[in-house]
Amino acid sequence: MKQVKTDMPPRLEVRGLVRRFEGKAVVDHVSLSVPRGQVTCLLGPSGCGKSTTLRMIAGVEMQDEGEIYVDGALICDTKFRVPPERRHIGLMFQDFALFPHLSVADNVAFGLKGAKEEKRARVEGLLTRVGLMRFIDGYPHELSGGEQQRVALARALAPRPRIMLMDEPFSGLDNRLRDDIRDETLAVLKDEDAAVLLVTHEPEEAMRMADEIALMRDGRIVQQGAPYNIYNAPRDREAVAFFSDVNVIRGKVQGALTDTPFGQFLAPGVPDGGEVDIVIRPQHVKIDFDRAGRGPLATVQDGVPARGVVTRARFMGSESLVEFRMDYDGSTLKATVPNVFLPKEGQALWLMIRRDRCFVFPAKGGVA
Ligand SMILES: Nc1ncnc2c1ncn2[C@@H]1O[C@H](COP(=O)(O)OP(=O)(O)O)[C@@H](O)[C@H]1O
Ligand SMILES: [Mg+2]
Repeated sequence: MKQVKTDMPPRLEVRGLVRRFEGKAVVDHVSLSVPRGQVTCLLGPSGCGKSTTLRMIAGVEMQDEGEIYVDGALICDTKFRVPPERRHIGLMFQDFALFPHLSVADNVAFGLKGAKEEKRARVEGLLTRVGLMRFIDGYPHELSGGEQQRVALARALAPRPRIMLMDEPFSGLDNRLRDDIRDETLAVLKDEDAAVLLVTHEPEEAMRMADEIALMRDGRIVQQGAPYNIYNAPRDREAVAFFSDVNVIRGKVQGALTDTPFGQFLAPGVPDGGEVDIVIRPQHVKIDFDRAGRGPLATVQDGVPARGVVTRARFMGSESLVEFRMDYDGSTLKATVPNVFLPKEGQALWLMIRRDRCFVFPAKGGVA
């Protein structure tokens, strides 16, 4: 990552942004900052307030509380407001539409001011960068979806915005194409050195694109950090579940330990009698064979094995997803295993849980 001087204000900073509809805060005190050259992904389920946040930063929606700064300068609070066209912000939205009656060159040049030759040079530079020079005199309807997307990117970047706001820009593209366009878009954005705030509801997209992820839920940012940290040090059960399937085992705590069919787990800081949820991703469940009713030996790393019977096994390409009915209480546990192994329904197997990869959270009430 690029070195950012600490005395430089962030390119984009948002403080305490609130937006209410009919008395309900759909964006609830959102604060975040994005340095130049960095991509921050606002990640969260549909309806959590991502687009509304982006629309306020773009200036097409007014906040009820909070301030927005660009390079340390206030551009918007509840009284003062720089109009959208003077915010140096580039936009790329889901329903990005190129102007159908304009050529590719004119689409890209649309927001540009200045001398004709200068504009032409910028258009050619960007179209070369996105690999579409050959279409410079073509029209949008002659291009594929992916090509149109790249023209839209070039158009948004043409005026050299300080900030790029992107709202689910890849959701209209089919899977295989999407990965390529994402990677290429990222490379172009990094070249341009803009601060990027990208909205998505897809964790894979966020992890692929982001330097930093801001995880959003019910109008609030619940956790913010590098993808590696968010994935490996999630702050609660919901944050784990947003990135993958999960298994949850609830246990009672005694002496900072909880007993489970898989052995004891540490529950530091939880008082005696309190309950915890042990949250386990399916890829961290280990599988072993049944040897005449016996499983593998207990280990420090993986605890005690528990037996289950396969109720469903699905081949998914690079891995298989296997569901078990556990002997100890009939509950379901999910495990993913490398694709070379696809067990049969009804087969008994022994499961163990990697201690260093599961998460223990105080239980929030309700059923596990
Ligand atoms: N103009 C509006 N009037 C009333 N409710 C709105 C308006 N815009 C958005 N909402 C509501 O605010 C919530 C957040 O919407 P949105 O920001 O679009 O979520 P996301 O982009 O995360 O899917 C939703 O419940 C949505 O119905
Ligand atoms: Mg949205």
